[in-house]
Amino acid sequence: MTQHLRSNSIAHRDIEFHLHSQTNPALFEERGPVIVTRGEGIRVYDANGKAYIDAMAGLWCASLGFSNARLAAAATRQYAQLGFYHTFFQRTHEPAALLAEKLVQLTGMTGGKTYFATSGSEANETMVKLAWVYHTVRGKPTKRKVIARDRAFHGSTIAAASMCGLEFMHREFGLPLPGFLHTLCPSPYRGMLDGEGETAFVERLAAELERLILSEGPDTIGAFIAEPIHAGGGIIVPPKAYFARIQEILRKYDILCLDDEIVCGFGRTGNWFGKETVGMAPDMMALAKGLSSSYFPISAVVVAPKIYEAVREFNKEGGSFGHGFTNSGHPVGVAVALETLKIYEEMDVVEHVRRMGSHLRSRFEEIGAASPIVGEVRGAGLMLGIEIVADKETRRPFAPGLQAGLTFDRIAYENGLVARCMGDVLGFSPPLIVSDQDVDEIADRCAASLQGLEAYLRQAA
Ligand SMILES: Cc1ncc(COP(=O)(O)O)c(C=O)c1O
Repeated sequence: MTQHLRSNSIAHRDIEFHLHSQTNPALFEERGPVIVTRGEGIRVYDANGKAYIDAMAGLWCASLGFSNARLAAAATRQYAQLGFYHTFFQRTHEPAALLAEKLVQLTGMTGGKTYFATSGSEANETMVKLAWVYHTVRGKPTKRKVIARDRAFHGSTIAAASMCGLEFMHREFGLPLPGFLHTLCPSPYRGMLDGEGETAFVERLAAELERLILSEGPDTIGAFIAEPIHAGGGIIVPPKAYFARIQEILRKYDILCLDDEIVCGFGRTGNWFGKETVGMAPDMMALAKGLSSSYFPISAVVVAPKIYEAVREFNKEGGSFGHGFTNSGHPVGVAVALETLKIYEEMDVVEHVRRMGSHLRSRFEEIGAASPIVGEVRGAGLMLGIEIVADKETRRPFAPGLQAGLTFDRIAYENGLVARCMGDVLGFSPPLIVSDQDVDEIADRCAASLQGLEAYLRQAA
């Protein structure tokens, strides 16, 4: 299929030289790349000039769309003033100090500190290392294991991938590493037993967590990590009482609660942070993506005072916190992030997301009620999922061979809509700047694509 490509074309060179993330190599060689040439608001354009609404904000991240002039100007100003400096050895610069302060305030981690890194994976790994320091300083160095959940996504570096609860993140690499454990995913739609109410479901999840802790030994477990709402695992909103109950158990066994806000942070779920949406009270929070609208690779960990105190205590006889990335607190990254936060505040991002999210959700619910294959519409704010099923009554999934979700993605793409299937969950996480009209366009294209999928499924039956 790609034999006709000129040898100096971008597509040819990309196939020849570029190893892509999360891409099947043979299929890529056959089909070639999708080349994206420019962005305009919530839309991106391919090399043929065709426009797409990117209803995933890229990878849940471009919250201010793809062409924000203020972010470009903030980067340009900072490049002209100080294009790089590091934050090792007591160095800092104005935007790093201001952003550190702003993030402690915004997250409500009063008295805490902000640590900077460059990716979500690094932020999550930083939380794990800090948990180890914390327990060591308190005379509990054996508390090193981390519990994550099935269907979680926490990144691609070795510990972060170990914390993922997704087989495709493990299978090539012999992961998870020893010491990274998984407990049940709090998915009401897929996890609740017949006749089991929400309360009993939460009790079962809690009992299973406690069983795991006791069987491993509470003196070996250091931390529990969770996204407030699973993103890549299929947009899973836990039952209301879930985190309060889980955190009772964590406290009982002296286990830290690590909050991966990499997708849920900065308005995505209709609050500043996902922890507010689900009632989580973490000891550390990992932030990335929406922090800079992904206009610069920057991430952060905001820690409670006790975590900082542990680092201080560990090094009290000399020595330094033995951790850091060359680009931690990169001046351009922090300047872009500061401008991003300013824009969120000016647009009242929380209120805007609540309004647009409720509009998009009610459109999806209408579409779902009319469609024979929509099993559930779920999510919060502008993080919504549609689970498609072969049978709405019994929730029977489609045969994997049908590739129903992937087929939806392909049809949506033809209709100028970028969505993202996670198995048979169709994900929507559009830029937070969407207007009512954009929401209607997303919903209309989604409805047309679902009808296309239904026609395909009828033919395949
Ligand atoms: C919830 C969550 N955590 C962590 C990550 C990893 O972030 P990064 O790809 O920047 O390392 C992602 C990426 O999609 C994510 O969705």
